[in-house]
Amino acid sequence: MRIAAYGDIHGHWLDFRESVLGLHARQPLNLVLQCGDAQPFRDDADLEYMHCPSKYREPGDFWAFHEGIEEFPVPLLFIGGNHETWGFLDQHRDGGQLADNIRFLGRAGCMTMNDVRIAGVSGVFSPKHFDQPHPRPPYATSQRKQATYYNQDDIDRSLACGRADILLLHNWPDLMNAARDASWPSHWTRVGCEYLSLVVESLRPRWVFCGHMHHRAQFRVGSTEIICLSDFHRDPMNAVTVIEA
Ligand SMILES: [Fe+2]
Repeated sequence: MRIAAYGDIHGHWLDFRESVLGLHARQPLNLVLQCGDAQPFRDDADLEYMHCPSKYREPGDFWAFHEGIEEFPVPLLFIGGNHETWGFLDQHRDGGQLADNIRFLGRAGCMTMNDVRIAGVSGVFSPKHFDQPHPRPPYATSQRKQATYYNQDDIDRSLACGRADILLLHNWPDLMNAARDASWPSHWTRVGCEYLSLVVESLRPRWVFCGHMHHRAQFRVGSTEIICLSDFHRDPMNAVTVIEA
């Protein structure tokens, strides 16, 4: 399977599709993966569920795919980030088809596509909310920040996958601190989360892809290659990688 993995796309679904079409024309892709902050807003009500400053609250292009006006050319599997419409995604907490060729993996878990086992953990870490259940949709927009966090159940569900060929994360595993170089911002004293490192070390995937930090970084631990991808809109060259699985 030839697979392209993308970092955060932040609602730029039409540009994302153009990029996929470009890769697909050069050599056909079987699957596209995306590491969260995809922002699949169907309408203004979905937009209200994104936790972010109001200046970043833009509707994006997903609605056209959801309404069938636009088509995604290759099957896409994505996880959720911290800038999402969790009110909508949580209606598919165990995963679901959101539009033709566009599938959400769910809060956490795994699925097999063409014999390739793909696990994922959506969201980001908050010590305060790690032991709390997710709000149940439909929830008040006042809970939209809490909805962006993964919790112990999500980690347990991903660990229950046993093994995976590919692991999709939004947040970085804290294993990435060993990859620090001069390109990292100095205020990043420590990045990532230990629970995600635990998932990496337990599932021992061949590849891990992560987003969130809008910065490209790569680190190998054992037989696992961790590739953190940048923000597609601002830094497209560092936001995508292609593998043969
Ligand atoms: Fe992001």
